[in-house]
Amino acid sequence: MTFRRFLSSYVPPKVRAIVFEKYGKPTDVLRAHTHELPLLTPTTLHIRFLASPINPADINQIEGVYPARPTFTKELGILSDGEHKELAVGGNEGLAEVIAVGNQIKDLNIGDWVVIGRSGFGTWRTHAAATPNDVIHINKEGIGLIQAATLTVNPCTAYRMLKDFVSLNEGDFVIQCGANSGVGQSVIQIAKAWNINTINIVRNRPDVEDLKARLKSLGATHIITDEELRSHKTKDLIKEWTGGNNIKLGLNCVGGEVAQEMSKYLGNSGHHVTYGAMSRKPFSIPASLLIFKDIKFSGYWMSRWYKTHSKEERGEMLSEIIRLVKQGKLGNVAYEEVLWGSQNENDESLKNKFLSALDKASAGFHEKKQILKMQS
Ligand SMILES: NC(=O)c1ccc[n+]([C@@H]2O[C@H](COP(=O)([O-])OP(=O)(O)OC[C@H]3O[C@@H](n4cnc5c(N)ncnc54)[C@H](OP(=O)(O)O)[C@@H]3O)[C@@H](O)[C@H]2O)c1
Repeated sequence: MTFRRFLSSYVPPKVRAIVFEKYGKPTDVLRAHTHELPLLTPTTLHIRFLASPINPADINQIEGVYPARPTFTKELGILSDGEHKELAVGGNEGLAEVIAVGNQIKDLNIGDWVVIGRSGFGTWRTHAAATPNDVIHINKEGIGLIQAATLTVNPCTAYRMLKDFVSLNEGDFVIQCGANSGVGQSVIQIAKAWNINTINIVRNRPDVEDLKARLKSLGATHIITDEELRSHKTKDLIKEWTGGNNIKLGLNCVGGEVAQEMSKYLGNSGHHVTYGAMSRKPFSIPASLLIFKDIKFSGYWMSRWYKTHSKEERGEMLSEIIRLVKQGKLGNVAYEEVLWGSQNENDESLKNKFLSALDKASAGFHEKKQILKMQS
């Protein structure tokens, strides 16, 4: 009796992957590696990645400073230098297509699109063996490949932060720094769809007016630079924008001075949520904000939410997000496609292409998310 379900022409492909065996500086520890796919079993799937982004947390994970650890395994075969080591594949987010299904799996079929549903899975590779628990099936009708590949981290983080900390009504105001980040752009779009106003802080730069125009086109209500935020006039300006109403929520992925400054604009009992620390700088909380305004300071981590919520709850959130994407209200994030993973390219060339994309993803003032678009 056979336990495999796949097209008759199915030949398990060679996997091209970006792997590391120890934590460290990404340029030092990452390498490209080619290996066989593990055999299909009755309870596993074979998936072919279509697109995988490079996110800041992926870089922190390789550096060993991110609490969610990747899966180190000896199942990825022998390295080109003959050593058989435990390896982890980089990347945490991605879209894949099911190419083979073990015969005990009933709810997934060849050709289905799935996104990776747990961190540490490893998405910078062309193919993988997975279990149904590793993935979330999404209906591909009406959604673009890149939009689907970038659903589970940034839009979900933005969605949860807008929903879970304060009760926002139409017309309310949210303030955020790092507003041009992938998460920030999702915040702008979801808030716009829900008729919530956003005050968006970005770092000043020579072409800041272009950036302001782009964020405006996504639905940003107001945009100011970090320098403008510090100016005396801004207090009155923001009061004028809000009509004197309280700003209920502040979202911070930067830290340092701008995070502290932003917290002063929150109204009584407002909530300041930190979800990133791109400046790598801490910030102080003035006692007056705690005593007289009762501002709440919290952190948010999407991985924790995924861990503590059921597959059904994850599916519910994704359906709502996909609905917004299909309506054209979300998923319009600037990106650069990196064609990657061709079966004809050698490991050295794949590594160099990857490192060049990583370099762009790590640089400040980069305007586009780097997304690997798989060529196999
Ligand atoms: N907690 C969670 O669950 C969660 C989920 C998703 C993302 N995140 C975090 O959110 C942050 C943004 O992620 P993303 O994918 O949206 O990133 P992204 O699209 O790559 O954007 C990076 C953002 O960080 C800013 N930035 C970079 N270096 C900076 C510096 N030295 N000082 C101040 N700002 C700086 C950039 O502004 P410029 O254009 O001015 O450089 C940009 O706004 C990261 O820290 C990420 O780890 C957290």
